[in-house]
Amino acid sequence: MSKQLILALSKGRILDETLPLLAEAGITPAEDLGASRKLLFETNLPDVKLVVIRATDVPTYVQLGAADVGVAGKDVLLEHGAEGLYEPLDLEIAACKLMTAGIRGAEPARARRRVATKFVNVAKRYYAEQGIQAEVIKLYGAMELAPLMNLADEIVDIVDTGNTLRANGMEPRELIAPVTTRLVVNKAAMTMKHERLKPLIARLREAVERRRVQAPA
Ligand code: ATP
Ligand code: PRP
Repeated sequence: MSKQLILALSKGRILDETLPLLAEAGITPAEDLGASRKLLFETNLPDVKLVVIRATDVPTYVQLGAADVGVAGKDVLLEHGAEGLYEPLDLEIAACKLMTAGIRGAEPARARRRVATKFVNVAKRYYAEQGIQAEVIKLYGAMELAPLMNLADEIVDIVDTGNTLRANGMEPRELIAPVTTRLVVNKAAMTMKHERLKPLIARLREAVERRRVQAPA
């Protein structure tokens, strides 16, 4: 196994919050990530490289060992499953909630509820646990449209401010899971590259703790 560490970052809104935290832990990309179409970047540390990929691909890269470490939302990890992954650290960024939601004031009508979501596994598991029969319909975005168009009775989606739900005449219902961004590590790498991973995880943990002291919850 190579001595290098490959760190897989989720692009999009998580990346914007990850880069300052990495900087506080002493890791900075060698060039501006936004300024090129490159996907693989050197850092200030000679043995650490970054890849910037879709959030939903991060667990796959880390599970299969293409990356040693990853940064991913708990929502994505719950949907993907934890096989082959350790989750040693909550980075406490990009906080939001995984919730069910429906049209404001509407009763969940039919016995078999139609649920639109991109979190198919999370939704199936949640409704089964609640003893509710659900037909889960996979969508890739704009979940809030599904009940308005009578495609579904409810949705399972990320809720942050609630503005998107409100703007579409919907209301949050049940909390499925609070979400923050987590550090994940390939299980084999945790053993084989422990000497390299240990200080990296420790520096990130210190950065998270410093922030907590500076801005207590
Ligand atoms: P993709 O491009 O793979 O479809 P996406 O568009 O859902 O991903 P982003 O919206 O950039 O990607 O990031 C989504 C991640 O950010 C979620 O997995 C979640 O952990 C986190 N997050 C934090 N706040 C929000 C929010 N208000 N809406 C969506 N995701 C949020
Ligand atoms: C996300 C999510 C919700 C919204 C929640 O969508 O899917 O629609 O943000 O945030 P709020 O509660 O603060 O309104 P995003 O903007 O990422 O678009 P997407 O549908 O492409 O995921």
